[in-house]
Amino acid sequence: PITPVILCGGSGTRLWPLSRKAFPKQFVPLVDNKSLLQLTFERMRHVSNKVLTVAAEEHRFFLQEAAEAAKANVQHILEPVGRNTAPAMAIAALFVRPDDLLLFAPADHYIPDSEAFAATVQKGMTAAQAGNIVTFGIAPTFPSTAYGYIAQGLPLSGGQAFRVKRFVEKPDAATAQRLLLDEHLWNAGIFLVKAKVLLAALAEHAPDILKSCKEAVAAENDDGNFIRLNKEVFAACRSESIDYAVMEKHEAVAVVPYVGKWSDVGSWNAVAELSQADEDGNRIQGQGHLLHAKKTFVHASHRPVIALGTEDMIIVDTPDAVLVATSRYVEKVKDVVAQLERQN
Ligand code: GDD
Ligand code: MG
Repeated sequence: PITPVILCGGSGTRLWPLSRKAFPKQFVPLVDNKSLLQLTFERMRHVSNKVLTVAAEEHRFFLQEAAEAAKANVQHILEPVGRNTAPAMAIAALFVRPDDLLLFAPADHYIPDSEAFAATVQKGMTAAQAGNIVTFGIAPTFPSTAYGYIAQGLPLSGGQAFRVKRFVEKPDAATAQRLLLDEHLWNAGIFLVKAKVLLAALAEHAPDILKSCKEAVAAENDDGNFIRLNKEVFAACRSESIDYAVMEKHEAVAVVPYVGKWSDVGSWNAVAELSQADEDGNRIQGQGHLLHAKKTFVHASHRPVIALGTEDMIIVDTPDAVLVATSRYVEKVKDVVAQLERQN
């Protein structure tokens, strides 16, 4: 049996003004009025009827809401502060039995084919039982600098998973271009691993993180609804992603290619692609009205928005902020938001 662990600590600003620190992307209703977190809970039911979440204290009510909407059986672990994915994963591994298989999954991805997903996870079981950290690989479509890259090697015994020759996290543009031509896969950000294997890898590559996490778990507080980590102890933990802390350094890493649709919904362009385009390439969420428009995306959740003669535009209206961008520049929104935050 596999225990899914949903990592839910992100606070992306790439989908501003819908996604904010107080209300990050995974909680925003983006697909058929469901949030990506609710859809993740629903998808995990194809893997197990029980899940763990590791999430931020300040988001506990959004978490419970999504779990209830998905009718998921969830145990929530709350972090007083975010320390990135290496600590979050260590914490989960410390709460289960050493031989338990954990499936770490981001809360904010869109993977519509739950059955194909569950079948692909099953393909990683043998390699994970044998002591590998199993990753899932996506065929890349452009030289993104926002992803990890995986060099797929020879098949492991059983033939369903492959050795990983190299793992490169978030390369610069030139390296990404080279890795793309060299047939690397994108890291989907999903990991299947035995709890004790992950803990041993952390002991080897990031012993300070493991030590802080053990102390934070030893001083936890369980009120029946939530497990809370000790604030002082966990706040002192180093902040690092699992990709830099472990994946780039570890030997026993395997990959199972995933061929279904996968999106990390990392930009407004990716959100737009979640809704159906009409014959002019226009996509509308909510009360958008277009005339003579082409390739225009409108998200209008609470009042009418009219766009005339627009082309290649992204328009997002919310009660207190508006975004207007061309698709080419829309990813820069996070830089402007960072600038606004510095000024406030
Ligand atoms: N609990 C918790 N605490 N979760 C966290 C924290 C934290 O401090 N920080 C991030 N997470 C969650 C996010 O909510 C997300 O669901 C997941 O962990 C991954 O974190 P991201 O910050 O979104 O990572 P990334 O997108 O930059 O990179 C990762 O995912 C890519 C695929 O989308 C890496 O694994 C890349 O190698 C990979 O290609
Ligand atoms: Mg991400």
